Amino acid sequence: MCSPEPISFSPLTRANFALLQKWLAAPHVSIWWNERFDLADIETKFGPRVDGKEPVYTYLIQHESLPIGWIQWYRWRDFPAHAAEIGAGLDSAGIDLAIGEVELTGRGLGPGVIREFRRDYIFTNAGVEAIFADPSAANLRSVRAFLKAGFEVVDTIQLSGEDFSRHIVRWPRPSDRPMLPDAR
Ligand SMILES: CC(C)(COP(=O)(O)OP(=O)(O)OC[C@H]1O[C@@H](n2cnc3c(N)ncnc32)[C@H](O)[C@@H]1OP(=O)(O)O)[C@@H](O)C(=O)NCCC(=O)NCCS
Repeated sequence: MCSPEPISFSPLTRANFALLQKWLAAPHVSIWWNERFDLADIETKFGPRVDGKEPVYTYLIQHESLPIGWIQWYRWRDFPAHAAEIGAGLDSAGIDLAIGEVELTGRGLGPGVIREFRRDYIFTNAGVEAIFADPSAANLRSVRAFLKAGFEVVDTIQLSGEDFSRHIVRWPRPSDRPMLPDAR
C-alpha cells in the first residue's frame, strides 16, 4: 500500500547548500537556530559533514521527491560535553531536523519524518541504545512533534550560557532490534 505522504532521505551534497541557506534564514527556522549563515558559513559548518570528515550524518528530507528540509543524527559520544549536560548516554544518538518550507509545517509531516529516519538511518546502527534530543521548551511544535513520534520528556534543563530551558526527549532502542557492539 502506498503511503499518502511519502517521505525519503538523501545525503546532503554541496548542490543543496543554497537551499539550506534559504531554509536556515526562514523566520520559522532561524528563530530556533541562534546562528546566521552566509554561503561561506554553510561550507564551514556543513562541508566537513558532506565530506564525511565530521561524524554528523546530514540528509535532505524529501516529500513526494521534492526537498523540504534537512535532518541529521550523530553519536553523543562524539559530543561528550553536551551529552553530559543533557544526560544522554554515550551510546545514544542525537537528532536535529527542520522542515524549511514553511507551508509544509503544521501538516503532521514532522513526526513521520522522525519515525522513518530513526528506523531506517539511526537504529540500523547496532550500537545505538537510544535517541536523545533537546528542543527548546518554548518550541511547542517541535516538542509536540517528538511526543507524537513516541518520545517522552525525561528532563527539563537549562544549558550553561543559555537563558531558556530545553526539554530532553528520549526514545529507547526498540526491543526487536537487539543491540550489538557499534561498528565504529
Ligand atoms: C518542528 C517540526 C519538525 C515539526 O514538524 P511539523 O510537521 O510541523 O509537525 P506537526 O504538523 O505534526 O505539528 C506538531 C504539533 O505541533 C502543534 N503545533 C503547531 N504549531 C504550534 C504552535 N505554534 N504552538 C503549539 N503547538 C503547535 C500541532 O498542532 C501539532 O500537534 P497536534 O497534531 O497534536 O495538533 C517543524 O515544524 C519544523 O521543522 N519547524 C522549524 C524548525 C524547528 O523548529 N526544528 C526543530 C528544532 S529542535
